[in-house]
Amino acid sequence: MKIAIMGAMPEEVEPIVEKLDDMKKTVYAVNTYYEGRYHGQEVVVAYSKIGKVFATLTATILIEKFACNTLLFSGVAGAISDKLKIGDLIIADGLCQHDLDITAFGHPYGYVPEGEVCIPADVNLRNIAKNVAKEKGLILKEGIIATGDQFIANAERKDWIGNTFNADALEMEGAAVAVVCSSLNVPFFILRAISDSADMDASFNFDEFLESSAKISADFILSMVDEIK
Ligand code: ADE
Repeated sequence: MKIAIMGAMPEEVEPIVEKLDDMKKTVYAVNTYYEGRYHGQEVVVAYSKIGKVFATLTATILIEKFACNTLLFSGVAGAISDKLKIGDLIIADGLCQHDLDITAFGHPYGYVPEGEVCIPADVNLRNIAKNVAKEKGLILKEGIIATGDQFIANAERKDWIGNTFNADALEMEGAAVAVVCSSLNVPFFILRAISDSADMDASFNFDEFLESSAKISADFILSMVDEIK
């Protein structure tokens, strides 16, 4: 098995890259890929840059060029559910695109023909995450994560996304990774730690908590690698 570990921003992958043994850096398609081993397990780590397009590119390259056959995503998210506080962990049971809109043709939000509104994440990887959380005594929420090419800092828009997709958290890459992995039959898993509540304080909170929340998520992902191998 070769595991891809992906984030969107440097802060999301640095705590992982710094723990790799036998690390080799490759620059490809204006992005850096870190191949190495974590406790003996072969991994390839990369951050995509923010948003669905960059995430699609990186996930595809991790699978097609670096031959990864499992993908774990680690990063931060804005909370929709008021049960989620800064630093809390959420795993996606499914991912949808909140900014995909051809409702003018009578389709539901998030749907295009031959696609799905909500793409489920791999059940086996989700169960591994639940075991890790149990072993570590950590609380892990599971729910729908909504993705879009927008930083949400507006309570009204956040509530609309929550109500329309029954989503608990939002971010800017997960559903793109889901489209790539489900199309290429690669099991995938999306983990996020909350950095903000997608409201009027979101950009301020994001700047303050990006690093600490990204580290919480990255540490959990590394424990999952130990459990998978
Ligand atoms: N990732 C973390 N917080 C976010 C927010 N408020 N909107 C979009 N993506 C995010």
